[in-house]
Amino acid sequence: MSSNPTRRDFAKVAGSAALAMTGAPAAGLAETSAGPHPKSARAAFPDGFAWGVATSAYQIEGAVKEDGRGLSIWDTYAHTPGKIADGGNADVANDHYHRYRDDVKLMRDIGVKTYRFSVAWPRIFPTGAGQPNTKGLDFYNRLIDALVEAGIEPFPTLYHWDLPQALQDKGGWQSRDTAKAFADYAGYMAAKLSDRVSRYFTVNEFFSFVDIGHRGFDTVVDGKKGRIEFAPGLKLSNAELNQVRHNAVLAQGLSVQAIRANGKAGTRCGPADNLSTAEPAIETPENIRAAELATREMNAGYLTVMLEGKYTDTYLANAGHDAPKFTEEDLKIISSPVDFIGINVYRPSAYVVASERGFRPIPFNKSHPRMLSPWHLLGPEVMYWAPRQAQSLWNIKEIYITENGCGASDEVSAEGRVDDSDRIMFLRNHLAQLQRATAEGVPVKGYFHWSLMDNFEWSDGFASRFGLVYVDFKTQQRIPKLSAAYFREAAARNAVV
Ligand code: NOJ
Repeated sequence: MSSNPTRRDFAKVAGSAALAMTGAPAAGLAETSAGPHPKSARAAFPDGFAWGVATSAYQIEGAVKEDGRGLSIWDTYAHTPGKIADGGNADVANDHYHRYRDDVKLMRDIGVKTYRFSVAWPRIFPTGAGQPNTKGLDFYNRLIDALVEAGIEPFPTLYHWDLPQALQDKGGWQSRDTAKAFADYAGYMAAKLSDRVSRYFTVNEFFSFVDIGHRGFDTVVDGKKGRIEFAPGLKLSNAELNQVRHNAVLAQGLSVQAIRANGKAGTRCGPADNLSTAEPAIETPENIRAAELATREMNAGYLTVMLEGKYTDTYLANAGHDAPKFTEEDLKIISSPVDFIGINVYRPSAYVVASERGFRPIPFNKSHPRMLSPWHLLGPEVMYWAPRQAQSLWNIKEIYITENGCGASDEVSAEGRVDDSDRIMFLRNHLAQLQRATAEGVPVKGYFHWSLMDNFEWSDGFASRFGLVYVDFKTQQRIPKLSAAYFREAAARNAVV
């Protein structure tokens, strides 16, 4: 027998000592620390900073055949053999459709002030357009009422990738008509929810559903071949892909106009995009400028054209004959002014240094640290650079971090705890960088953690757990992880803790 104490022995001793000191409950959420925290001694966020969590409809709702919901491309894709890593699908997922009240209570206990969820388009328009399905709308009315009652602001996203299958059958995002159908649906939602919802995110992560869904990528990680692919799982030509990108940003512009036309006065909206971010490898004025140039080009087909109203010269030159077909009027629609932007921040896309050609990307070293997902390279400084560049490139006045978080191999201990030290490390380091940005005046108004709870992680299935709350998918039991207590403490103190 080893003389070293085992992990469990240590946990027992440490656990009972901690309990003796604080009287805290053995599992789940501890009380937030009492007593004043002098402002000078903490890395505080600005007053009114919004602490939130995020989810999306297909990843948590389940109930895919209930109350008249139509099929989405993700139903079709997840039921295609070989597409989802663990062979799963989100037919039941977190059963949130039935358990939403308990989930709202969980949020309240975690100290959440604002909740970013998504509306499933095929619940509202089962075939994408035509007659609305009021039973689908009722679900979101019930959810929003429960949130308002719990003092949590509902902050819906209107498109989180679950395109109605009927629209895919007519060409999906390859057709301009899909952009128009999206705007009609967005306008309808703004009209129906406007009494309780004043802010909307339009479209989530353009690159993910466009490029990964319509081209996909073959990867090699640690010598193993893999593929990153999302629904509808197409492999389009360059010209077709560029046109899908164009239709997607057109949908963004049209939906902004429709939301403004149909929502109550004061209704506000903006996209939630995964800004590809280049960071200066070494902070010098030249490298900082080079990184900005790189970020602007890397986002040319998405945020850059939305916020500048034109495709960059380099984007069009690189595309050559495959450039999207568009009119000046399209560009005006695409750049319809937004009230804010949301950015999903997980990792840096590149480190760069200045060069004669503007910037030179530095390849990631093979030993660069990663979180659980093979794509998830660690680089917390991206949480400083992404919003700072959004401000410096496009003079954005209101920015939300609409997602940030990490998958982890969380397990429930014999004592019933989920001690996710890696997620706490991830969170603390990213919040520290975000606080650096806000302290320098970058106008970040809130942070949404991805995700409230473990859920269906698209093609990776259920094994990659991103939640602050652990979910046992057999019993639907929810267990707040240690990171939920961390989040609650940070939210309560409005500071990095
Ligand atoms: C971004 C997506 O919006 C979300 O749906 C996904 O689960 C997370 N990234 C984690 O991969």
